[in-house]
Amino acid sequence: MAVLSFFDITNSDKYQLQVTFDAWQDQHYLLFENGPLEIQKIHPDTEVLSVFVSSNVTKEIIDSLPKLKLIACRSTGYNNIDMIAAKERQITVVNVPTYGEHTVAEYAFALLLTLTRKVREASQSVQENRQDLPLTGIDLAGKTIGVIGSGRIGQQTIAIAKGFGMHVIAYDPYPNQDKAEELGFIYVSLDQLLTESNIISLHAPYTLDNHHLLNKHSFEKMKHGVIIVNTARGELIENLALIEALQNGTVSAAALDVLEGEALLDKDEELYLLQQNTTEQLQHGLEISALLKMPQVIITKHNAFNSMEAIERINQTTAHNIMAFFEGNPQNSVTTNASAMGKLILSRHAESEWNALGKWSGSTDVHLSEKGFKDAALLGEIIKDIPIDYAFISQQIRTLETIEGILDASGQLDVEYQRIKELNERDYGDYTGLNKWEVKERVGEEEFNNIRRAWNHPVPNGETLKEVYERAIPFYINTIVPMLREGKNILICAHGNTNRALNKYIESISDEGIADVEMQLGKAVIYTVDHDGKMLIKEDRHIETTESKA
Ligand code: NAI
Repeated sequence: MAVLSFFDITNSDKYQLQVTFDAWQDQHYLLFENGPLEIQKIHPDTEVLSVFVSSNVTKEIIDSLPKLKLIACRSTGYNNIDMIAAKERQITVVNVPTYGEHTVAEYAFALLLTLTRKVREASQSVQENRQDLPLTGIDLAGKTIGVIGSGRIGQQTIAIAKGFGMHVIAYDPYPNQDKAEELGFIYVSLDQLLTESNIISLHAPYTLDNHHLLNKHSFEKMKHGVIIVNTARGELIENLALIEALQNGTVSAAALDVLEGEALLDKDEELYLLQQNTTEQLQHGLEISALLKMPQVIITKHNAFNSMEAIERINQTTAHNIMAFFEGNPQNSVTTNASAMGKLILSRHAESEWNALGKWSGSTDVHLSEKGFKDAALLGEIIKDIPIDYAFISQQIRTLETIEGILDASGQLDVEYQRIKELNERDYGDYTGLNKWEVKERVGEEEFNNIRRAWNHPVPNGETLKEVYERAIPFYINTIVPMLREGKNILICAHGNTNRALNKYIESISDEGIADVEMQLGKAVIYTVDHDGKMLIKEDRHIETTESKA
């Protein structure tokens, strides 16, 4: 008996889903929650998770559900799902591709007409018996509407606009010329649409590529007095840029059914914001407050889909999606267009002159030994099947000499690299330049092992491994992991201790456990990592000839 968990459920959703599942209910365990998804409210054995756009299915949630097989979005958009995390776990994601192109397009016009004919003010003037409200609007007939995204909803919006006698231009990276002829509109570039439209209505999905499609620069190109309608996704518009454009009159009015940071509309905003420590949330909170105060702005909370007919279609399609999945014939699956994670290749520099002498080099510049130069080329040979997009090395000359050998031997001399201080070797302080084996005799084996391998063992005037970790890992998370997420293959050539710090984070090794980890010379580790840069797959490759002396 599989557990099916439904979140964001209204009474009519529950009724409609139960009717459609009907006979199925004896075979499976259906759980319904009114509110949005919260990790502590999900049944741990959930195999099917179904949500609306108000719930975010994060990596943390996906990781907490070992039996999860299917995420059934009760919406067209699926940008609220961590698609990379779902892909990594081979979880199928399905959506409701069509349920209400009429529904959303009609709502876009409901919003637009509310603005252009001042419906709110007209109603208010009667209810409050006020004579001071400006009630004179503008006609739509003869105006130019620019439609961004000419898919199902965009086309329906265009058809309605034509009914109003409007001139329609559209922008879409995948234009549909047959539809353009049929409906009587023309495709233009995004820039032309921005400069020529009296009204702009958004109907594009949100993807990684079109974040802030309308930003400060876009607003600068628009006609003075343009009206913006967004029933697509909030992240397509940069809130702050819109606020500025509303203030300076470039945008005369805006209707937003979706809004960057819209989840904050569900919360007791000020209290919630006080508990937040992300500047992004605080920023969105302030932007939303500013927009809510503007009389020329209408905000609704993701309501464009909300008609009786559309909801029934959503629930029916969702139930059929789930049943088709269990019958082994998934319908309406969606995938991410985000690239698969790139590979991380981690190698240590080849043997230096001081390695050969058994001396601690730390951050001192020491050249590769003759054998080191040869081994760097061998390292290049063993990784030459992996096309490297970018490389990072430390500031020490031995990683520079090694990377040049690696790139030359792997036939990838054109790869760019950066010398990064965060990847520098651990500073061995007073031990720098001393012979390791002499120190071992002097201090005893236990202290010697602690100096070399322990997590937080101090050396006079030098760094601990923990300190190396504290500088190297933020760099890895903030600079390297985003590049891996873009699908880039990254090579890091660093040192025994910087690499051990990276091993510790990537492989989630404990403070005690790291003492047993050695990053040998003559070795490359190829990692496939997850969204957070943590290990999924590890492959060790060794060169043939080197014996580690370090
Ligand atoms: P669709 O997939 O039929 O059409 C989307 C169109 O946008 C496609 O023609 C595509 O080529 C185009 N497009 C993609 N990237 C673009 C870009 N950067 N600039 C311009 N056009 C671009 O999708 P449909 O059914 O028309 O829905 C559109 C969006 O509306 C959904 O992705 C969803 O985000 C939103 N939506 C909002 C609802 C609400 O309640 N507010 C309800 C339903 C959908």
